[in-house]
Amino acid sequence: MEKYIINGGNKLYGNIKIQTAKNSVLPILAATVLTDGKVKILNVPRITDVKNMVKILTCLGCKAVYEGDDIVIDSSCADCYEIPSALAHELRSSVFLLGSVISRFHHAKIAYPGGCDIGLRPVDLHLSGLKKLGVQITERNGYILCKCDRLRGEEIMLDCPSVGATENIMLAAVKAEGITVIKNAAREPEIEDLQKFLNGIGAKIKGAGSGTIVIEGVKKLTGTNFLPISDRIEAGTFLIAAAMCGGEVCAEGICAENISSLLHKLKENGCKISINNDKIVLENHKKLVSVKSIETQPYPGFPTDLQAQITALCCISEGHSIITENLFETRFKYIPELRKMGADVTVIDRNAFVRGVDKFKGATVIAHDLRGGAALVLAALAAEGKSEILDISHIDRGYGAFEYKLRDLGGDIVRVSV
Ligand code: UD1
Repeated sequence: MEKYIINGGNKLYGNIKIQTAKNSVLPILAATVLTDGKVKILNVPRITDVKNMVKILTCLGCKAVYEGDDIVIDSSCADCYEIPSALAHELRSSVFLLGSVISRFHHAKIAYPGGCDIGLRPVDLHLSGLKKLGVQITERNGYILCKCDRLRGEEIMLDCPSVGATENIMLAAVKAEGITVIKNAAREPEIEDLQKFLNGIGAKIKGAGSGTIVIEGVKKLTGTNFLPISDRIEAGTFLIAAAMCGGEVCAEGICAENISSLLHKLKENGCKISINNDKIVLENHKKLVSVKSIETQPYPGFPTDLQAQITALCCISEGHSIITENLFETRFKYIPELRKMGADVTVIDRNAFVRGVDKFKGATVIAHDLRGGAALVLAALAAEGKSEILDISHIDRGYGAFEYKLRDLGGDIVRVSV
């Protein structure tokens, strides 16, 4: 067990190089099972979710070798279609492997996935999509068992634009016979990135980024070198940190369009934002004003993965805000922890009613999930006095070298073994 000790109150200044996107790298790693060609993924973030995904690939018989910050995956010798339950429980994205494993072996066995405990997170849309492509699915003793004789293209209409279901169906359809059309597909930038990667190894996919994705099945895929897009959630987290602590921070290597919903809110909060190609500079030297309401939505709406961080910011803005979480029902677990730091927030159903206070005060708090944990770190950096954030393994799932990057900006944060 490790914790962060943070002495709050420092302003943040400097440049921060944004890591490649966790939510892009994970499905791309899952996709490597589809091909016998060697795939080199460049600049992979050093986060636990990626390490666990690589462990699962190794259990399937794939070879994975780190070359500095890059990773080379060779799936030509993959020989196993069972995803071990211990690892599936560590990582929700393990479910993305269903599509690629069933495509490769015509069999797949996976324990129900884990990941952040932020709500029910069902996989019904993943499974019904795979069934449409010809997969027979049974569920027994906590395992999902899949088999098929062959995969056939179909038209699939998703009940809601699930990111994971869209990606899983894309992976299963890449080598299916005929044409698959996914309607009401998720439009997140990471889905476009997956399309770019898959087309780079020989797939024929178009439409990602819109609500309709068309996949023409191909017989063979090859290898490639691929640099995933930057992590819009990491970038957003650092920009919110700068807004809360005051100072001037430049997030480098990020497409501003991918977080425009956040940038609009930060401008409403009173921050000065300038964009120059792939750099976003946020400057703030005064008390923030609260935004009236923020609702999480599928892309291009406000991302649920930045909900906790923006709520922390609202807590020390002047005025009242209502934050509505529309995607994951229990994603307010960090709020009782923020209250320990002096926040004035009431949660009713999916809404957090925030009355801004002058400052957070240092306290000992627990990170219950990845983004909620990041929000606590930001609150502690902006707080008066010393805080301890316990159980930071959740934060390590998605932020590589988090404390190093924050220290570079001037934050007083250290990691300590408990
Ligand atoms: C992905 C992201 C996660 C982000 C989320 C929403 C990855 C690795 N994770 O998670 O960081 O918070 O998108 O942007 O990319 N749903 C169903 N049935 C299903 C699947 C989903 O009802 O079969 C519902 C969920 O309960 C939720 C909504 O759809 O309410 C969106 O979930 P989804 O887009 O699938 O999220 P994930 O892919 O799990």
